[in-house]
Amino acid sequence: MEWKGRDVISIRDFSKEEIEFVLRVAERLEEELNEKGSLDYARGKILATLFFEPSTRTRLSFESAMHRLGGSVIGFASASSTSVKKGESLADTIKTVEQYSDVIVIRHPMEGAARLAAEVAEIPVINAGDGSNQHPTQTLLDLYTIKKAFGKIDGLTIGLLGDLKYGRTVHSLAEALAFYEVELYLISPELLRMPKHIIEELRDRGVKVYESTSLEETIPELDLLYVTRIQRERFPDEQEYLKVKGSYQVNLEVLKNAKETLKVMHPLPRVDEIHPEVDKTKHALYFRQVFSGVPVRMALLGLTLGVLGE
Ligand code: NCD
Repeated sequence: MEWKGRDVISIRDFSKEEIEFVLRVAERLEEELNEKGSLDYARGKILATLFFEPSTRTRLSFESAMHRLGGSVIGFASASSTSVKKGESLADTIKTVEQYSDVIVIRHPMEGAARLAAEVAEIPVINAGDGSNQHPTQTLLDLYTIKKAFGKIDGLTIGLLGDLKYGRTVHSLAEALAFYEVELYLISPELLRMPKHIIEELRDRGVKVYESTSLEETIPELDLLYVTRIQRERFPDEQEYLKVKGSYQVNLEVLKNAKETLKVMHPLPRVDEIHPEVDKTKHALYFRQVFSGVPVRMALLGLTLGVLGE
């Protein structure tokens, strides 16, 4: 498997074997980190983080991952402090940043921006979210979290809840889950249904897919519920957002009808879709999910930099 120099733009670019390989490397790194505290595979290497959109977990876990690998980090958390403000193009920004770094992580509000960056750059580019399109590294850490919690992915009945139209995390995740023997419940308001082309692709790939607008009716079926935030910033019209705002809330009342073993995930940030009272229950997996970001992103950085062996 050739990883050195590879871009990570869409989960569609990866086979099941490649996905599982990243998860195995992440597991190995997590163990090594527990033993040694810090590692030095990426000593002397520089990661550039270019965030044209807000982020807490994705940016900080990439930074943490690079530091834990012994490398260093440059970058910006908002384009307003850069020459983009003066009218510099994305292509020129990328051609500049690659003179200073060995790998680039980019988040951008435009679909396709990460692909464009990868075409321009000679060094590897990792997509940390492009508009409503894709968020492949989140998907890898989601799969890692599921495997850790259940010991498997095959055989699970999984609900994706919330904004399935604009949510990039669920677009990437649904496509990756199609590699496994899962049943998927897509639970959303009518206005925020999963795009048709993704549902068709899932069905073509043999996934049993059910669509529903009711969390109450579907929750008893689920082994895992993946909750998402309504992506307010992606609505072309605030009136449309107001129609679906607060559509669902996972709280203790709703969870009464769930399996005792149900796990709840969320890429975070949450607004009001999961009541904080759920945090202390055995259902909550979302903070463990946050932790998975570090070993998984260490694996991706190490592999694309070519500093980790097979
Ligand atoms: C998600 C994102 O940016 O797409 N956050 C994340 O990376 N963990 C989810 C969201 O913003 O709702």
